[in-house]
Amino acid sequence: MKILVTGGAGFIGSNFILYWIKNHPEDEIINFDALTYAGNLENLKSIEDNPNYKFVKGNIAQSNEVGPVMSGVDIVVHFAAESHVDRSILEPSSFILTNIVGTQVLLDAALKNNVKRFHHISTDEVFGELDLNDTNKFNERTNYNPRSPYSATKAGSDHLVRAYHFTYGLPITITNCSNNYGPYQFPEKFIPLAITNVIEGKKIPVYGDGLYIRDWLYVEDHVRAIEKVLERGKVGKTYLIGGMTELYPNIEIAKKIVRLLGKDESFIEFVKDRLGHDRRYDVDWSKTKEELGWEPQHNFDDWLKKTVEWYKENESWWKKVKSGEYKKYYKTQYEDGSR
Ligand code: NAD
Ligand code: DAU
Repeated sequence: MKILVTGGAGFIGSNFILYWIKNHPEDEIINFDALTYAGNLENLKSIEDNPNYKFVKGNIAQSNEVGPVMSGVDIVVHFAAESHVDRSILEPSSFILTNIVGTQVLLDAALKNNVKRFHHISTDEVFGELDLNDTNKFNERTNYNPRSPYSATKAGSDHLVRAYHFTYGLPITITNCSNNYGPYQFPEKFIPLAITNVIEGKKIPVYGDGLYIRDWLYVEDHVRAIEKVLERGKVGKTYLIGGMTELYPNIEIAKKIVRLLGKDESFIEFVKDRLGHDRRYDVDWSKTKEELGWEPQHNFDDWLKKTVEWYKENESWWKKVKSGEYKKYYKTQYEDGSR
């Protein structure tokens, strides 16, 4: 089987490739990635010489770059995206180009090459926000209500993927998953930013009142869910993926991280809130469990601890990442008074 992975040099894409090569060594993987600030081939160093793995640098929004890599492909697993909400608030245009136009270019190429499955990775953020004070969860029937430029572009891409199925018969599946954490996550996202800041002796910036809730999913649980959807998912269907049921507000997570690193709460500071900040996400993944036999296996407390250990043991990975463009971004986002 020949699998084209887009965005395979990013956080979830690289975890997916490492898992797939280990568990399906007979398959051929092409990693197609533009290597934006978020793409890092170091994540894949351990498999770079594997004869069944090939990296191709290219932009999903450029049909002349996508066309040649789609030839002979059986399955597309589409991770490539601009993925950080704060950056989408600072500068939405690259999100529209990559997440919407890029997805459409890939869909056209997939159709032309008769791929057997186009699997699109999406997010629970397309459903908008939940109240803090009720117990509703997102499910397969929840209406789309995206509220940030990032989630609006992901919603647009989901609609396009479904449209290519209904209009042209492209065999698609979609997963909408919650917040991932784990190794190789770019330290602009809350958990790796918090861990690496404390290791560097800096504070954790907690937006607003800190009482925002995410449904945390360990990245390997997400990768296993994608595997199940590729193996057993029904063409045309959407599957929701979420973590175990511990719903900690951000401030609690910040406190857990400082404790795990042997520091006190003076390492936490409240900063100006994110614009349009969604209050709560919570995913009902029971249908995915019923249909595919998947459920998350990694609880938050144990795997946050292991994630903290990973960042402690891999300082050289994130120290390189936290330089150059990152420093400019951090200054704009947290220090220039723009927040
Ligand atoms: P990431 O930002 O870590 O990685 C994105 C990758 O895509 C990078 O390697 C980057 O170089 C590549 N890329 C960006 N623009 C490209 C382009 N135009 N052409 C080719 N490659 C390009 O993202 P991630 O956190 O690994 O997220 C992967 C996917 O999962 C995204 O589609 C995201 O929307 C979705 N998702 C992420 C989460 C999460 O918690 N991280 C949760 C739900 C859904
Ligand atoms: O829900 C899935 C989504 O999760 C994915 O689709 C996105 O690609 C991914 O980036 C993530 O989006 P969030 O905005 O939820 O993740 P982030 O790590 O940016 O923020 C998590 C929470 O922490 C959120 O409530 C905002 C808050 N936060 C974030 C940062 C970066 C802070 O309080 N301080 C910070 O410095």
